Order: sequence, then structure tokens, then C-alpha cells
Amino acid sequence: MALIGKDILYAAELLKTGQLVAIPTETVYGLAANALDPLAIASVFEVKKRPFFDPLIVHTFSLEKARDYVNAIPAPLLKLAQHFWPGPLTLLLPKKELIPDLVTSGSSKVAIRVPAHELALKLLKAVDFPLAAPSANPFGYISPTQPEHVARQLGKEINYILDGGACEVGLESTIVGLEGDTICIYRLGGLPREAIEALSGNVELRLNVSGDPKAPGQLTSHYAPAKPLLIGDVGQLLKANPGKKTAVLSFGKKEFSEKIDLQLCLSETGNMKEAAANLFSALRQLDESA
Ligand code: TXA
Ligand code: MG
Repeated sequence: MALIGKDILYAAELLKTGQLVAIPTETVYGLAANALDPLAIASVFEVKKRPFFDPLIVHTFSLEKARDYVNAIPAPLLKLAQHFWPGPLTLLLPKKELIPDLVTSGSSKVAIRVPAHELALKLLKAVDFPLAAPSANPFGYISPTQPEHVARQLGKEINYILDGGACEVGLESTIVGLEGDTICIYRLGGLPREAIEALSGNVELRLNVSGDPKAPGQLTSHYAPAKPLLIGDVGQLLKANPGKKTAVLSFGKKEFSEKIDLQLCLSETGNMKEAAANLFSALRQLDESA
């Protein structure tokens, strides 16, 4: 069973010998490996049960360091990096040869980000390679926002979980790239679209994809709990599903007249950031409830 602790040097040692370590970031916990070591990368896919066509995000500790791994940073993306790194922003950039094709699933672009988490940054500085890290959940399941979430799901397959507490943002990074002169968002996430538009003007959303290996992470089923999850008006949903045990996850504090077995609320005051930080752990709590 994986140890949970705050020992950065131990985590660095494991990573140096090709092993996997779960690491905290401000978005979600990642399952990290040496991004320059194809064998270590292969075990990430194996442990996560992730198809090889779904590429990994590479993490490093600064914009300057990122230049070691990419051939260019086009001006519009550089501006975003300067403004939002460290933070929940991932940029798709032309990769240098030293980034293995396995990391990018054969694409000439690598997804790079600098996480805004003190422990993650310390670890990234303690090793002399970048870390490839997908979210530390089995493929398709809810992402982990606390060390215990990782322990419950991947604890048997890895040795160490670096404990950085609960993730502050709680949603994955926003993935952004450039098509011609247009800034495109491929995955909505912790950095709001509005924040990008306030800095850089209009952006386009490219979220359409399902099962297309060339596109990032937008498969039909993703972040999915094991129990059926229905979204909509609670009264109508209950009517349409009579006799079922029911839990409700609401955004703000809400009273319902219907009988509900369990109710959770993402933010009593309707605060969007608080709601985002609570979303995955609330889904998990519901999934694990009897
Ligand atoms: O917040 C995050 O981004 C977290 C933390 C750990 O950094 N990581 C994360 O990784 O969410 P993951 O693997 O669960 O999702 C990364 C998504 C994938 O769905 C993948 O398709 C896309 O990023 N991606 C990665 N590399 C790419 C590339 N070279 N081209 C296009 N999409 C890429
Ligand atoms: Mg994921």
C-alpha cells in the first residue's frame, strides 16, 4: 500500500529510478513519472489503464525551463504563459525531439504546464527532468483532489503519494493551443475562459471530439462515477425514476419538497471557485455512499 507523506527527496529518488509518484497540484493530483523516460511513461499508461492514444501533460517549474522542451512559444501563447503560469493553464506547443512520442501519443505538439503548488514546484526543481502526469485516477473515473482519493484507487500500484493537502482549484487545467492566429481552448478547466479573453480577446472552443485520438481528452465518458448520474430538475428526475434511492448534489443551498436520501451542496454561498474545488470530492462521496 502506498505511503502518504511530505518527503520531497524520497519522491525525487523514486522518480529518478523510473518509479511513479502521485503528486499534488493546485488542480488535481497527478500520477507522475520522468517525462524523458519511455519505460516510466509506459507504466503510467499501464497503472492508469489509459489507452496509448491519450497523451500526457508535461510539468515543469518555470516558463524558462519549458523552453528546454519546446521548439517555439508563439507570441499569443507566450503572453498567456507569462500571465497565468504557475497556474491551471496547459499550452500545446511544438515539442523538441527529447520528449518521447509516447508522451504526446505521436503528436508533434506537447502539452506543457507549470503547476501553482509549492510542493510540486519543489519536487520539479529537485529532479533534472520534467514530469509527465495525468490525473491520478483510473482512466475514465473521477479525478482525485485529496491524497486519500489516490490511495483508495491506485494505492496498491504505487509506492508513494506526496501529500499536498486538498487541491485548491479542484478542476483540471484549461488546455489551450493556437490554430493560425486563433487561440483555441481544447478543454475547459480551472482557468476560466473569461480570464483568457480578458487578456487576449476572443478565443474559440474546440470541445467537440469523441474518441478521436488527435484531440485532447474529450471522450464520451470521462470523469464518470460508477453510479448513474442524472443532471436536471430534481422534481422531474425523481418522477421519471420512481422507487430509486437518490442523492442530490446541488450548486447552492437548496430545499427540495421531494424525499431525498442524501444531499450535498457545492457551495452554500453559490461561490463558483468553492464549488469547483468541491466538485470531484462530492461526486466521489456520493459514489462511495451506501
Ligand atoms: O490539471 C491538469 O491538467 C492535471 C494535473 C495533474 O496537471 N492533469 C490532467 O491530465 O488533467 P490528464 O491526463 O488527466 O488530462 C490531460 C489531457 C488529456 O486528455 C490529453 O488528451 C490532453 O490533455 N493532452 C495531453 N497532451 C496532449 C497533446 N500533446 N496534444 C493534445 N492533447 C493533449
Ligand atoms: Mg484525467
